[in-house]
Amino acid sequence: MDNFTYCTPTKYIFGSDAELQAGTQLAALGINNVLVCYGGGSVVRSGLLERVETSLAQSGITFVELGGIQPNPTDPKVREGIDLCRRTAIQGILAVGGGSVIDTAKAIAAGVPYDGDFWDFWAGKATVTEALPVGVVLTIPAAGSEGSGNSVITLLDGMHKISLRTDFALRPKFALMNPELTFTLPPEQTAAGIADMMAHIFERYFTTTPDVEVTDRISEGLLMAIIDQAAKVMAAPTDYQARANIMWSGTLAHNGICGTGRREDWVSHFMEHEISAVYGVTHGSGLAVIQPAWMTFMAHHAPQRGAQLARRVFAVDEPDDTLAALQGIACLKAFYRSIGLPVTFAQLGIDHPDIPLLVAKLHENKGPEIGGYYRLTPADTAEIYRLAL
Ligand code: NZQ
Ligand code: ZN
Repeated sequence: MDNFTYCTPTKYIFGSDAELQAGTQLAALGINNVLVCYGGGSVVRSGLLERVETSLAQSGITFVELGGIQPNPTDPKVREGIDLCRRTAIQGILAVGGGSVIDTAKAIAAGVPYDGDFWDFWAGKATVTEALPVGVVLTIPAAGSEGSGNSVITLLDGMHKISLRTDFALRPKFALMNPELTFTLPPEQTAAGIADMMAHIFERYFTTTPDVEVTDRISEGLLMAIIDQAAKVMAAPTDYQARANIMWSGTLAHNGICGTGRREDWVSHFMEHEISAVYGVTHGSGLAVIQPAWMTFMAHHAPQRGAQLARRVFAVDEPDDTLAALQGIACLKAFYRSIGLPVTFAQLGIDHPDIPLLVAKLHENKGPEIGGYYRLTPADTAEIYRLAL
């Protein structure tokens, strides 16, 4: 196991009516004027936004709204939010939604106190040292942004979808997590969220670090629980306990616990970010297509971790590592299909993906060789994209 520092300062408040604590939690942080960020309207239709804003008013907190944040969020909305915050003396940001809303809120939070262009942080030209405090009311378990220090934004100029990773600066101060808020999710968003949280575990599970039995077992346990609970939420979307288990899994998958003391990979995410940047697909659906393809490549080049995953999570009984890994991938794809996810580009609605373009953008954004588990050249990543056809 490698040395590590682990600190997740986010306060999680979990359960029915958690969203009603928005006002008191912000007030406890000394915030009395907040920017409320939300997406395309689901929180308006469900009445959630009104409940949250009532809670703010009851705590004497004034607010300004920034709605219309789209999935796979882009830089113009961030710039609009930064400008709004500066004009209205905003002290903190409340994200009411999923990863796209939270990531936009984080980007605005980083940009407001910064003199230069906020994209400098995503371009690697500057480091976030100061940010407005961010609170979250989570409506979809998927991206794990409520517990991560990351923010994924697409720069429209060139369609560069980049994940900024910070240790502490952009971790939310609190996350209000009421599983009932997820009852209204369309089945395809529930399923995509499940694929995303599983992907966050896989990215850490495929490691070259030896002797990481504790985080291996945490990861395997989480994956088995997600697979078990997924069938329940898909069959009964208002099953509170199943929704609760899935919601907490999404946070644990990405708040760093599964990656402590081990080298991580992240190539499947990098490859998917190019797909969602170019084709606008849902991140989790893109992962359901590309991650099994990445695993298939690994089964032929570095099969050990895939074989262990197959034996321990999917109960594959096969002594040969490559064959075991391939059987595990077949089980994973069957699971994805069982909850309605695509597992090929065509099923994702992309009949003829522009693989040279995806590969060129991938390596332009991430470098000539990528991957923590196994180093991949452009020829390798092109092969992985082809495996997903
Ligand atoms: O926009 P509205 O109308 O709210 O609808 C949203 C949106 O269309 C809908 N939705 C959310 N909660 C709902 C609901 N519909 C009904 N009832 C509810 N309770 O779901 C759609 C997707 O929302 P989005 O926020 O895009 O989902 P998700 O949480 O999957 O976020 C995806 C984004 O996060 C990034 C992805 O790349 C993508 O841009 N990621 C962020 C990460 C991070 N910050 O740590 C890590 C991830 O790996 C990921 O890359
Ligand atoms: Zn993800």
